[in-house]
Amino acid sequence: MARATQNVRKSGRRHPFATVALVAVGLLVTGAAYAGFSQTSATAEIDLNSASTISEGEKLFGANCATCHGAGAQGTKDGPSLVGAGAASVNFQVGTGRMPLAFQGPQGMVKPKQFSEEQTLQMAAYVASLAPGPGLPETRYLKGDGDVAAGGELFRINCAMCHNVAAAGGALTQGKMARNSPGSPPRTFTRQW
Ligand code: HEC
Ligand code: HEC
Repeated sequence: MARATQNVRKSGRRHPFATVALVAVGLLVTGAAYAGFSQTSATAEIDLNSASTISEGEKLFGANCATCHGAGAQGTKDGPSLVGAGAASVNFQVGTGRMPLAFQGPQGMVKPKQFSEEQTLQMAAYVASLAPGPGLPETRYLKGDGDVAAGGELFRINCAMCHNVAAAGGALTQGKMARNSPGSPPRTFTRQW
């Protein structure tokens, strides 16, 4: 066949290293894509990219969040758009009981969680599927075995202005409050105060 012959001739003219380079590029791209797609939660073995996880999340979202955040999470006058908010934000807001919001105020209140970890991650997967956003931290950052002294230094430079040097928390402008973050379990920040 004419087309096939043409292809053969074309590849025959290629530099011998071209094929090797192509394969290398292909492997790199596949590896990077796999790293991006294979995100699972640290504690529950849930694949945030599986179609069934996302569709379960969509159902939960429709029943519990869409009144304020809109169908498709586009936002309404009662809640911001979550397109691009990312899995980490949903995990934080729902995992600490802040969402679903009980009433409007400067910030969501910490209250008992209303959803299991699995349900929370399903909703996180759904929101993450709408547009890229900050994902869940990698497991290695959640072990709590990092350099505490270096962390303290970073905290005093970057966080103490709101959370106070001793991380005791503090009141901020416009009715907001920064809570005492250290001591909170690393992943869900469930500390009540
Ligand atoms: C009664 C209305 C209401 C309901 C119901 C509600 N939210 Fe919200 N949500 C808000 C408002 C208002 C904000 C912005 C204020 C804030 O951050 O506290 C917000 C903020 C958020 C944010 C942070 C957005 C960002 O940019 O990081 C996330 C994530 C979120 N909601 C997820 C959810 C999920 C998931 C549900 C359902 C389980 C839910 N919300 C239910 C009103 C609501
Ligand atoms: C501009 C002020 C500000 C700075 C700077 C700041 N935070 Fe916060 N932080 C807040 C506020 C306000 C909240 C509460 C948000 C809410 O409840 O919706 C918060 C919440 C938190 C929480 C959740 C606490 C809980 O109990 O749920 C953690 C953890 C946290 N911050 C860590 C940090 C770290 C680490 C840094 C430095 C890298 C930092 N913050 C810098 C204002 C700040």
